[in-house]
Amino acid sequence: MRLVIVSNRLPIVVEQDEGGWRARPGSGGLVAALSPILRRRGGLWIGWPGVSDQSLGVYKVLAAHAHTAGYALQPVWLTPQEQQGFYHGFSNEIIWPLFHDLQSRCNFVPTYWATYGAVNEKFAEVVGHCTGADDFVWVQDYHLMGLGRRLRARGFGNRLGFFLHIPFPPPDIFCKLPWRAEVLEGLLSYDVIGFQTPRDRDNFADCVRALLPETRLRRCQGGLRAESGNSAVMIGVCPIGIDYDEFAGPAASQPVTERVKALRSEMQSEQIVLGLDRLDYTKGIPYRLKAFRLALANWPEVHRRVTLLQVVVPSREAVPEYQDLKAEIERLVAQINGQFTQPGWVPIHYVFRSLDREELLAYYRAADVALVTPLKDGMNLIAKEYCACQIEGDGVLILSEFAGAAVQLRRDAVLVNPYDLDGVAEAIRRAVTTTREERRPAMRRLRRTIQRQDIYWWTERFLRTCGIVAEKQADADETGIATSPIRLTMPEPPDASYPCVSTS
Ligand code: G6P
Repeated sequence: MRLVIVSNRLPIVVEQDEGGWRARPGSGGLVAALSPILRRRGGLWIGWPGVSDQSLGVYKVLAAHAHTAGYALQPVWLTPQEQQGFYHGFSNEIIWPLFHDLQSRCNFVPTYWATYGAVNEKFAEVVGHCTGADDFVWVQDYHLMGLGRRLRARGFGNRLGFFLHIPFPPPDIFCKLPWRAEVLEGLLSYDVIGFQTPRDRDNFADCVRALLPETRLRRCQGGLRAESGNSAVMIGVCPIGIDYDEFAGPAASQPVTERVKALRSEMQSEQIVLGLDRLDYTKGIPYRLKAFRLALANWPEVHRRVTLLQVVVPSREAVPEYQDLKAEIERLVAQINGQFTQPGWVPIHYVFRSLDREELLAYYRAADVALVTPLKDGMNLIAKEYCACQIEGDGVLILSEFAGAAVQLRRDAVLVNPYDLDGVAEAIRRAVTTTREERRPAMRRLRRTIQRQDIYWWTERFLRTCGIVAEKQADADETGIATSPIRLTMPEPPDASYPCVSTS
C-alpha cells in the first residue's frame, strides 16, 4: 500500500535568490518527523511548495528533491490571496493561537473561513486526482481539518487518517470558534483521528459531547470510537517521535566531535544551557530569558560558569506578531547581556537563523542543559532530539509541563511551569550544580524511551489503528491508541493525466 502524506507544506520550501530557485528544508516538527518515514518507505507527499510561481525552475527544484529523497512530490499551488486567508489568516491567526489556549491573540475575520474551505477543496481536488485504490491517505495538521469531508463529498472511498500535531483545546476555549461545529464535523469525516496526548483526545471528546450530542462516544480497545448514523471514527493517542538513530549516530561522528570541542572552548564557560526554538510566541522565549536573568541575579556564583545559547529559527515573519516577538527577544537579550557581561564572558549567545545539520547536532551534544519551556506545545521534538544527541549521557532536560512530550518524559525530565520564573530559575541553578554522575541515570532512561518510541513506532502504531498493518496484540497502554481495523470501500484508479513530480 502506497503511503500518501498530505500537509499544508511540502518538506521543502522553494525560494528564489540571485542564483535562481533553491530549496531549503521546512522548519517545525511536522517536516522533521515525517521526512524520514517517506524516505524509508517511499510514497507521495502532497503540499504547498511555499511559492505561487509555477515556473520550470520551481519544478526542477522539486524534481531534484524527489530524486534524492526517494519519494514523489505533488505541489498544490496557492495564490497570494489564498495564502493570506488560508495560511496566515485562518490557520495561523485563528486556529494556531486558539488551539494553544491563547484566544486573546485570535483574529476572527469572517472571510478567513471561506478561504480555508476553498483551499481545503483545492487540496481535495489534487488528492482525488493523484491517488489510487491502493493508497493510504494520511492528512496532517490543523490546516487541513476540512479535507476529509470534501474528499468524501467527491466520492473518495479510501481509508483516511488524520493526525493533529498541535494541542486540542478544552470546550471553554474551542467554543469561542465561530465555526466550531463545522470544524468538528469535518474531523469526524476521517476514519481515524490521532492526537499527541490523552489530554488532547479528551478535550476533543468533550467538545464533541458539548457540540454534537447526537454523536455517541464509546471506549474501544484502549481508544475511543465516535459513532453517528452509519459512520464510525476511531480516535487514538499516538505521541510523535523522532528518527533516533539519525540523531544519535551522526552526533558521534568525527566532524561533529570536532565542532563540539570547538564550541566548548569558544563559549568560555563550564556549562552550556541550550534554548532552540522556531520563532513563535507559543515557545515562551521571553519568559525563559527572564527566568535566566533571575538565575543570574539570584546566584552570582553561576556567573562565568554558565552560558545560555539561544537559537531562534526564523518562521512566519510576514505576520506582525512574529516580528514584534523577534524585537522583544532581541531587546531582552541586549538588556541581559548589557547588565551581566564581564570581560571574557557573555551570558547569552543569540543566534537568529537555521542551523545546518552538523551544527545542530554539535549544539545538542555540547549542551549540558536543554531549556525547553513552551507555554503550550503539541509534542516538542527539540526535547527528544536533544536527548538522542546526548551521547556522553550527562545532560539535563528541563521541560515545560505544558509540552506534549512531558507525558512520556515526566519521570526523568525536570518539569517546570514556564510562567513560574522563580521555578525555572531554580531548575536552571539545580541543573548546572548537580554532578555529571548524578545526571546520568535520568538521561539514560530518557534516551531509552525516545529510542523505543521513535518515529517508526509512531507510524506503525497509527497504521495499525487504521487496519493497514497487521495487528500484533491488544495494544492499550498509557498512550491509549486503539487497534481495531476499519472496513472500507475502494475507489476507482487515479486519473493518469494529472502530473506529479516523481523520483525518476
Ligand atoms: C508547527 C506546525 C506545522 C508547521 C510548522 C512550521 O510545527 O504543527 O504544521 O509546518 O509549525 O510552521 P510553518 O507555518 O512554517 O509551516
